[in-house]
Amino acid sequence: MTRLRAKRHIPERMERCSGLWFGSPAENKGRWRQICGFKEDCKLFLEIGCGKGKFCTETAAANPDVLYIAIERAPSVILAAIEKTRELGLTNLFFMNVDAKDLLDYFDGGEVDRIYLNFCDPWTRKKKPKRRLTYRDFLKAYEKIMVPGGQIRFKTDNTLLFEFSLSEFKECGFTLSEVTRDLHNSEYDKDNVRTEFEQKFAEQGIAIKRCVATSGKQKGSDDRIIAL
Ligand SMILES: C[S@@+](CC[C@H](N)C(=O)[O-])C[C@H]1O[C@@H](n2cnc3c(N)ncnc32)[C@H](O)[C@@H]1O
Repeated sequence: MTRLRAKRHIPERMERCSGLWFGSPAENKGRWRQICGFKEDCKLFLEIGCGKGKFCTETAAANPDVLYIAIERAPSVILAAIEKTRELGLTNLFFMNVDAKDLLDYFDGGEVDRIYLNFCDPWTRKKKPKRRLTYRDFLKAYEKIMVPGGQIRFKTDNTLLFEFSLSEFKECGFTLSEVTRDLHNSEYDKDNVRTEFEQKFAEQGIAIKRCVATSGKQKGSDDRIIAL
């Protein structure tokens, strides 16, 4: 009942947070730093599938000079993230209620410095690997919108998705580093910011897998966007 009532008020609540999200994000393609009031040389980090925003709000609060953009396709979920951002008074985190499959409509070649993919849906049924956000077509799009040497920082609880993703990263020419199948008991946990799902899985005793995939794209390579 409470959930239903909350969902019914999404447009009004979104309206109250206007300024933190973009209803027509394609208009900002190639101009995100300028639109958000940041210098042209500032870093732009993108989180895909941000959920209720624990990770992006904490990370943005800790790095006020970095411009963060978070995307999430579920309206009631992104609303929670946007309201959290408003309560915290963050001025370097903005949102788009869109699907990652259309990323090339929203970002220009080389516009993004880093991408975070945290606990994306594993799509474990055999016929659905193309829906995984680490499927090669997605990776090719990420590479196009990232600077040469840009990083994808990937975390998951799911072993099948993790092994699949490592193989896709390699196949697409990314260089892998900081690969761990037990993040919370590894040296890489020191600066780790836990997401909502990560916290839940950790409480259930599930080991978190994590890696960094660095784009093999060379400086000066063709950044023109080619549709997927
Ligand atoms: C399992 S949740 C993880 C949420 C959060 N990243 C965390 O770690 O707590 C995955 C989220 O990604 C979103 N998502 C899945 N596929 C997406 C897509 N193609 N584009 C945008 N968001 C997507 C879902 O709506 C969901 O909120």
